[in-house]
Amino acid sequence: MEVIIQPDAAAAVKLTARIMGDALRKNPEMVFGLATGATMEAVYAELARMCREEGLDFSNAKSFNLDEYIGLAPEDKNSYRYYMEQHLFNHINIKKANTHLPNGMATDIPGEGARYEAAIAAAGGIDLQLLGIGQDGHIGFNEPLSSLGSRTRDKSLTPVTYKQNCIYFDPPESMPRRAFTMGVGTILDARRIVMLVTGEHKADIIAKAVEGPVTSMISASAIQFHRNVVVIVDEAAASKLEGKDYYRWSFENEPCWNEYR
Ligand code: GLP
Repeated sequence: MEVIIQPDAAAAVKLTARIMGDALRKNPEMVFGLATGATMEAVYAELARMCREEGLDFSNAKSFNLDEYIGLAPEDKNSYRYYMEQHLFNHINIKKANTHLPNGMATDIPGEGARYEAAIAAAGGIDLQLLGIGQDGHIGFNEPLSSLGSRTRDKSLTPVTYKQNCIYFDPPESMPRRAFTMGVGTILDARRIVMLVTGEHKADIIAKAVEGPVTSMISASAIQFHRNVVVIVDEAAASKLEGKDYYRWSFENEPCWNEYR
């Protein structure tokens, strides 16, 4: 794992988008794993800018999102499908048919997880998975005690997640309490993981996930098992990391980061 500390959130976002853009230029048929949440809005705005101004070409790319609320239709303003269209898909030249999210309206709940897994496999697996982290340490909606080998399935959301996300709903109580999410095992199958975490409110949880023991209580800690993962943080989110000096040294000196410094 590599941890890259950037001076502020804007720089962390830019670096994240740049890594994604470079990966797409190298492989125009990239299969992206995508995340939602407030943190990612600026990443998608930057990718949209790169598409518009720099000709970044998504026409042969595919995407699979991590999760979707159960019971929300695609056109619901709080669905993650709606979020993705508003923040990214409507602003880049990706083919809508190549963008995938779990179907929040699926009636066959176990079947939907299996269908999504099969779709990812049929696309050849995920090349680059973008991740954020929830306040309770979740990735996707893999709440505490999610098996580290779990696959796409339905999951009940914790009170912490409810508190974090219900502010987007009107009324807040209308937020669904269940969601489909890729499993931790599904996420770990991605060939590369890029996690972006910004803000002081995430400092505690990212320190636990990166430097603490691997535990299903903090599903993000499972990324420690992955062989190709970079965690990009701003100074605020990095404030509780014990190994900060080493991470900085490593970023400054590793040849693979030459073009990104
Ligand atoms: C939701 C998503 C997660 C995301 C998290 C962080 O819970 N299911 O995939 O990482 O939000 O959100 P934010 O960026 O708003 O802190």
